Amino acid sequence: MDIPNENNATITDSAFIAGINGAKPHRTPVWMMRQAGRSLPEYRAKRGIGSILDALKDPSLACEITLQPVARYDVDAAILYSDIIVPVHAAGFGVEIIPGKGPVTEKPFTRTADLARLDNFDASRDTAYVMDTIKLLKKELKVPLIGFAGGPFTVASYLIEGEPTRTFTKTRQFMNENPDIFDQLLERLTEITIDFLCNQISSGIDAVQIFDSWVGALNRTEYERFISSHMKRIFANETINSVPTILFGVNTEPLLDLFAQSGPTALGIDANTSIAATTVRLGSTIALQGNLDPTLCLTDSKTAVSGAHRVLVDSRNTPGYIFNLGHGVLPETDPEILGEVVSYVHEHGRAIRDSAYETDEYRSAHA
Ligand code: CP3
Repeated sequence: MDIPNENNATITDSAFIAGINGAKPHRTPVWMMRQAGRSLPEYRAKRGIGSILDALKDPSLACEITLQPVARYDVDAAILYSDIIVPVHAAGFGVEIIPGKGPVTEKPFTRTADLARLDNFDASRDTAYVMDTIKLLKKELKVPLIGFAGGPFTVASYLIEGEPTRTFTKTRQFMNENPDIFDQLLERLTEITIDFLCNQISSGIDAVQIFDSWVGALNRTEYERFISSHMKRIFANETINSVPTILFGVNTEPLLDLFAQSGPTALGIDANTSIAATTVRLGSTIALQGNLDPTLCLTDSKTAVSGAHRVLVDSRNTPGYIFNLGHGVLPETDPEILGEVVSYVHEHGRAIRDSAYETDEYRSAHA
């Protein structure tokens, strides 16, 4: 697809694109999940009160917020300021995001008739404001712009639970009691996701991440039965497949081979998973992204930077690699510390990753 973009030459040379494609970037690429958000004073100053879902309907505000961390940290990619709930909200399901709490719906998904609440979604019509934000951003940005969508399981969990949960009890009960209805819900959410991502790509997005943040609540049998086919369908889509793709979730180590089989370019690795061991397990053709523990960034620069050093060492045998956190930036994080981490990765990442591919440390850890 030919996307008009005056910065295309820069994007092609980008460290992020080289890293995800397994080529040699001029510096180790880094971006951070939730890099735009409450940890930034400039975000809090702009954002005001009210729901993020309303803030997102103002493309010039969403554009400005997306650019804030790029200007502050010199990261190698921007991530669109949006939310995984945007398409189901725009479809009119009746889901909102309560500040300090997260996505809630007064009428959770309980029966076949609730599918009708997701019937009416057309990304170009109902999320035109997201596409307008992307077009504004593409005029400003010199680094790639990452678009995203929630994974069908993660989005379904909010619709079924009605509010944020740590246990996913209702979702797993519903899935096992009503497998046919659950299949239909996931199928519909998959169609919505594909429409939403294809529109983002035709509006100028350079890469896509699927946040299936909570799918690690499922075991392998459940993942293969309920999720794999939908993920394969997303990554097999010709338009989606025309840009690099990343699949991310937390607590997903047991599922990572199934993630890889669904066809993304890269996997996002959480802080509890070894990057080196994942490359040994899955092979070096799949790129990996991660995985500094976000809680280390709540301590002090020295602790956070030595954590970043260990992550870089752990990534030495992974040719396609992008530095990130293992999950999103926590709101309490001091941006100065994140700044130190980004500078460290840029200044030392290449040397650390290039030195002695198999150090003694590495050999004894992976004997
Ligand atoms: O990564 C980024 O910088 C891009 C922006 C982004 C947001 N949400 C902005 C946001 C992304 C990628 C998301 C994805 C998202 N949203 C996920 C998956 C990622 C993850 O964390 O695992 C989930 C589960 C959601 C649902 C959601 N939206 C939650 C749980 C919350 C927090 C509610 C709260 O106030 O504590 C939101 C709101 C939200 N989305 C904020 C931001 C910056 C909070 C700030 C605000 O309301 O201004």
